[in-house]
Amino acid sequence: MRPIPVLLDCDPGIDDALAIAYLVAEQRAGRIDLAGLVCTAGNVGIDDTVRNALSWLDLAGCPPVPVAAGAAGALVVPHVFTPETHGPRGAGHADLTTTTRSLDPRDGARLWVDAARAHPGELVAVVTGPSSTLAHALELEPALPRLLRRLVVMGGTFRGHPGNTTPVSEWNVDVDPEAADRVCLAWEAARADDPTVAPARWCGLNLTERAVWTPERSRRLVEAAQGSTLSRHLADALRFYFEFHESVGEGYLAQVHDPLVAWLALHPEAALTEPVHLRIECAGEHTRGMTVEDGRGHRGRPANAELVVDLSVPGGAVAVLEEVTVSIADLR
Ligand code: RIB
Ligand code: CA
Repeated sequence: MRPIPVLLDCDPGIDDALAIAYLVAEQRAGRIDLAGLVCTAGNVGIDDTVRNALSWLDLAGCPPVPVAAGAAGALVVPHVFTPETHGPRGAGHADLTTTTRSLDPRDGARLWVDAARAHPGELVAVVTGPSSTLAHALELEPALPRLLRRLVVMGGTFRGHPGNTTPVSEWNVDVDPEAADRVCLAWEAARADDPTVAPARWCGLNLTERAVWTPERSRRLVEAAQGSTLSRHLADALRFYFEFHESVGEGYLAQVHDPLVAWLALHPEAALTEPVHLRIECAGEHTRGMTVEDGRGHRGRPANAELVVDLSVPGGAVAVLEEVTVSIADLR
């Protein structure tokens, strides 16, 4: 099997760090070719997302891969950061080392387009932060939806599941709803031209909140990794995430959205999906950032997206996190 070319656009971010480590494990196992890692301002500012991504790649022993800085903020509105969720610099309690790794000279949008053109019809793109850089990439290359094998997005919340930022919005979308809506419109236009273009695959909170990481799982990770520096830094980062989740009444645990989505991007057959027409509310006083799904074809609008509504793996999200844990533990 040839390695699958993969691009990750992320906003590390504590759960993004798990997604990065998992993809590095897949890269080192020869199952993927990490064609690009794009950092987008999200949980923390662009400088910290870049610093964190480079440091996590170092700690994971990743071979050289292109890492580029993407959007430094949302398209339209001032960016909102979440130091209370991921820590002041986005790595929780982990004290990340400064990196020897250098940034790619291209910006994130250019790396998106170059990676897609280098692997026409083959690149699997995963977004685990705001869609701001992807929106810029779509301006550079409107044919991006056709160039990708598939796009998998951690974003939104569906089927009436409550938001984590407002009652109706999920954080990655809430921070930059205009960007997320441009993604929806781009896939709508591409599929109107060519129905064979794969719909964008969206993983909302209704799915990703099932990915619960516990202190016991952190302990097991460090033990299985024989106390690797990576595993101990991830455990330190996750401890902050446990404290945050406890502070908002979720218990001393962490909903780790991003590694579940990264795993699903590499295991498309494990996703149970439903086609919808998807747009993002950008104007509502009370509903800004809401993912508006239409599964009934109102006004004749064809599906531009597919929602991952369940997993077809025995054991569900817990089994996925177990596989992620084992993969990361092997990175010693
Ligand atoms: O709402 C959860 C998402 O927002 C995750 O990707 C987390 O890292 C934050 O970016
Ligand atoms: Ca994220």
